[in-house]
Amino acid sequence: MSIIEKAARRIDQERGQAPAPAPLQAPAEVDFNDPVVAAAPATASATASATASATAPATAPSVQAAAPASPPPTPAGAATTARQSTQKVELDLAKMRELGMVTAAGGRTSLLEDFRIIKRPLLKRAFSAAAKGDNPGNLIMLTSSLPGEGKTYCAINLAMSIAMELDHTVLLVDADVARPSVLRTLGLPAQRGLMDLLIDDKLDMSEVLLRTNVDTLSILAAGTSTPRATELLASSTMTNLVKEIAHRYPDRIVIFDSPPLLLTSEARVLASHMGQIVVVVESQTTTQHAVKEALHQLEGCANVNLIYNKTRDIPGIEETYDYHYG
Ligand SMILES: Nc1ncnc2c1ncn2[C@@H]1O[C@H](COP(=O)(O)OP(=O)(O)O)[C@@H](O)[C@H]1O
Ligand SMILES: [Mg+2]
Repeated sequence: MSIIEKAARRIDQERGQAPAPAPLQAPAEVDFNDPVVAAAPATASATASATASATAPATAPSVQAAAPASPPPTPAGAATTARQSTQKVELDLAKMRELGMVTAAGGRTSLLEDFRIIKRPLLKRAFSAAAKGDNPGNLIMLTSSLPGEGKTYCAINLAMSIAMELDHTVLLVDADVARPSVLRTLGLPAQRGLMDLLIDDKLDMSEVLLRTNVDTLSILAAGTSTPRATELLASSTMTNLVKEIAHRYPDRIVIFDSPPLLLTSEARVLASHMGQIVVVVESQTTTQHAVKEALHQLEGCANVNLIYNKTRDIPGIEETYDYHYG
């Protein structure tokens, strides 16, 4: 059975009803003994009609803006900033809502429903005994085969969706240091963050952590641009930092927006520390080969899930799609 079929079946079971279209496919746990039959073929959208359909609004947020030519600069004076307690940033919730993102006051949108379905199995495992293997289940990484598949989009919406739960607080970490886009997508200026923690061992997490006006949501930005970003992310310092985050926030869901798996090695290293991994697969674009390769990189990792993203549910559209790589 293909992963897509598995995902469709799982959601059918969860919904306990006939398949209904939804913009995103909820996570399907990957069985590495199963061959990946299809990444996003036209036939899969029929199979996955249980789960897959239209993209988010054309007015999707600043995620539509091009990635910056270079990662964010260090804010002026950052190097000399004295130790300070966690600073607060203001998310423009009305704007986010307008742009079709998950917010608490957004009403019952289909996006909200999709992320409700997506988060449920992740939350279930986050603090369950089953998740307490080697890696903490509350560390959840979003990755993909290639750039542009929707990691940041899904990471932010998932974080917002979980932050709306009464029982959970969320830390969203922008670990895609080569193409950081969490703050930009949220309409916020660049801030110090992950890279600064890796470069400066005297810096404390509390000095760079960003509290938000969503009380249950904090953000750790990618931080200062450095040519050593890739090495730093794959370093033992990063390993220790992830352990520190897990130790410091054992009751928090920590979502890592991560680099793609097929371009660099750091996503794989990061994955080795995670309790749960979500691979975002862009429908109609990502090839079966790319998905297989990505999953191959994750062999040995616990709790690998898939989100089938950016699918369309326009009758007959399948015939008109070409499949292309990258
Ligand atoms: N489900 C979706 N519906 C509509 N647009 C989406 C969706 N997922 C991602 N996008 C858009 O696709 C583009 C790439 O998404 P992004 O999350 O930045 O990718 P990545 O982080 O994987 O590089 C962005 O413009 C984003 O708005
Ligand atoms: Mg991104």
